[in-house]
Amino acid sequence: MITCVRGTRDILPDEIHLWHLVERESAAIFDRYGFEELRLPIFEVTELFARGIGDTTDIVEKEMYTFTDRNDQSLTLRPEGTASLVRAYIQHQLYKDGGTRKLYYAGPMFRYERPQKGRYRQFYQIGAEVLGPDSPGVEAEVIDMLMLLMDRLGIGDTRLWINSIGCPACRPAFLAVLQEREQATAGRLCADCVRRIAVNPLRVLDCKNPDCQDAVNALPSILDYLCAPCRSHHERLKKHLGLLGIAYHENPRMVRGLDYYVKTTFEITSGALGAQNSLLGGGRYDGLVEQLGGPPTHGFGFALGLDRFVLALPEAVRAGSRPVPDVHLAPLGETAQELAQVVAARLRRAGFAVSQDFQDRSLKSHLRHANRMGVPRVVIIGDAEAEAGQAALKSLITGDQILVPLTELEAVLRQQPAEKE
Ligand code: HAM
Repeated sequence: MITCVRGTRDILPDEIHLWHLVERESAAIFDRYGFEELRLPIFEVTELFARGIGDTTDIVEKEMYTFTDRNDQSLTLRPEGTASLVRAYIQHQLYKDGGTRKLYYAGPMFRYERPQKGRYRQFYQIGAEVLGPDSPGVEAEVIDMLMLLMDRLGIGDTRLWINSIGCPACRPAFLAVLQEREQATAGRLCADCVRRIAVNPLRVLDCKNPDCQDAVNALPSILDYLCAPCRSHHERLKKHLGLLGIAYHENPRMVRGLDYYVKTTFEITSGALGAQNSLLGGGRYDGLVEQLGGPPTHGFGFALGLDRFVLALPEAVRAGSRPVPDVHLAPLGETAQELAQVVAARLRRAGFAVSQDFQDRSLKSHLRHANRMGVPRVVIIGDAEAEAGQAALKSLITGDQILVPLTELEAVLRQQPAEKE
């Protein structure tokens, strides 16, 4: 038997309605905040990610699916969406009209990570980016949008973590101090951290290895080294969040795994998720557009993990989101079966979701089947009723049954909207 590749999975019909729910709600909420969708390719030239995300990040060093095509070009399955979006923003001169562009994208991303619950090699993100403004108000607006989305989806037990990782003006001085302190405690750090001291000392701060925690906790905090503009930006973000009534936790250790960030970084974690508890993450990337060949442009955004959003949906939402047909047709006999097909086609054109299966079932079996699906109403058509142009309409909620001329079925169904279970 051929099975799907480790770290990838099939999303089966049992679960897909939960995905649709998150996708639908995100699109509706993002629309309210003025975001427009953009569809981006799944693979790009490798250089885009090496330059955009950073050569010394885990993603670029160890996790990319890179291959050469038949034309010997090095291509990579996208590990994230921001670099691609910025590439498209530059390529199509989306900055041409000036002002702010609010864009979002959704789709699969690929990273060669160790698979576990909530962490896959093909996973799905929905991301949104604001290109143009420098304001912390935009950051708070985006975070507010996420709060509303999680609220609409019933996702609770979450925490918002914020940090500032400075800018090219203040970060080098911090990095020098940090590197020195890391070297002094290298004996208490894991091999990965020791390697990072030289190449990416900031990443030591968010090492998850329990053996490193004591040493890492004793390292200096970047918040103590911010320059005046970064400090003021950070304070203003906190003020905006306060005005919106959004609770946050400051976490100076949260530096995130992508090199393009400056100033604000943020993450939202969920208590419902276990080890891979980051529901979403993002931050500001003011230099990225320029670095990839575009005009100097401020950028801020996030990506949410769709797989993890689905995992974090509460039971009540899971149970209530499965689509249920409005009516089940139960034809008993061959003539009735043929007539039922015509009735089903008519009802579907009138907007009803109708289930009809073409197996020869007894009435009891039809009712059991309808009950299992949670369908509220069943239209029973026997051969005799078919001859008379009638059907019995049975409510599975009240148990009531009435005889309805088929010509009036649509109107009666409309008049008596049945609550689905
Ligand atoms: P990221 O933190 O690498 O950021 O990913 C964002 C989210 O994608 C994570 O919080 C998590 O929910 C989900 N995710 C990441 N890796 C996996 C995985 N292997 N399996 C399942 N879910 C995963 C970015 O990708 C940035 N592009 C976010 C951003 C946009 N920053 C600014 N704009």
